[in-house]
Amino acid sequence: MKTTLVVNPKGGAGKTTVAINLASYFAAEQIPVTLMDYDPQGSSLHWLRLRPPQAAKIHGANAAPEKYGRLRSFDMYVPPQTRHVIIDAPAGSAGVLLQEMLVRSSTVLVPLVPSIIDLHATGNFLRELTAMGPVKYGHVRMAVIANKVRRSMPAYAPLQSVLDSLGLKLLTRLIDSDVFLKAAESGTGIFELNPGLVAAERKQFMPIVEWVTGLPGLAEAAQEAARVCDLARTRAA
Ligand SMILES: Nc1ncnc2c1ncn2[C@@H]1O[C@H](COP(=O)(O)OP(=O)(O)OP(=O)(O)O)[C@@H](O)[C@H]1O
Ligand SMILES: [Mg+2]
Repeated sequence: MKTTLVVNPKGGAGKTTVAINLASYFAAEQIPVTLMDYDPQGSSLHWLRLRPPQAAKIHGANAAPEKYGRLRSFDMYVPPQTRHVIIDAPAGSAGVLLQEMLVRSSTVLVPLVPSIIDLHATGNFLRELTAMGPVKYGHVRMAVIANKVRRSMPAYAPLQSVLDSLGLKLLTRLIDSDVFLKAAESGTGIFELNPGLVAAERKQFMPIVEWVTGLPGLAEAAQEAARVCDLARTRAA
C-alpha cells in the first residue's frame, strides 16, 4: 500500500483538488483507493458524498482531529484491499499532525500557486519539510506542483529558483481551468469525465500519477488508448 500526502499550509493552494483528482484516477482504473481527510473542513469527504451512484467506489477516511467524543481511530479505518491512500491535509498543517501524516507517507505532493505571495508563504514550509527526517533521509519522496497556472504566464522564474535552491522537482503545471471546478461540483474527477473535454487537464495531471505510482509511461499509454478510441469512433460514424 502506498500513501501520498498532499500538503501546503497555505490555504487554497489546491490540496483538495489534487487529492480528489488523484483519487479519481485510481477509481477510474478500478484500483482500490482510500481518500483520507485530515481537514476539519472535510472538503474531500464532502466531494465523496457528491459522487454519483454509478461512480467507482472510493473509500473515505476521516482523520480530522477528534471532537465531541468521535472515535478517530475508527473513522480512520483503511480497508485492507486499498492499494493507494491519498491524504488531504488541512491548511496550516504543522507540528505533531504534520509528523503523523508524514510518517504514514511514501510520497509528498506540494501544490503551490505561482505568485510571490504564495511562494513567500510556502517557501519556508518547503525548507522545513526538506529538513525533516523522512524527507532528508530519502524515505519519503517530495515534489511540487504549480497549480492555477495562468495561460498568460506558464513559467514563473521565482518558483524555479526556490525549487533549484532546495533541489526539488517541479512535477507539472496545472492550468487554471473551470474543468476542476465543474468536476468538484459533480463529485467526479478529470479521469471520470469525457476525455475529449478534459484532454489538456489530464495530460498535465499524468506526471503526478506516474510519479506517485512510480510507473513512467502511463501518460503515453493513456494517449494511445485515447487515440485508438477516437479512431474507433471515427470509423463507426
Ligand atoms: N487548477 C485549478 N483551476 C481552477 N480552479 C482551481 C484549480 N485548483 C484549485 N482550484 C479551485 O481553487 C479553490 C481552492 O482549491 P482547493 O480547495 O483544492 O485548495 P486547498 O489547498 O485544498 O484549500 P484549503 O487550504 O482551504 O483546504 C477551489 O475552489 C478549487 O476548485
Ligand atoms: Mg482543502
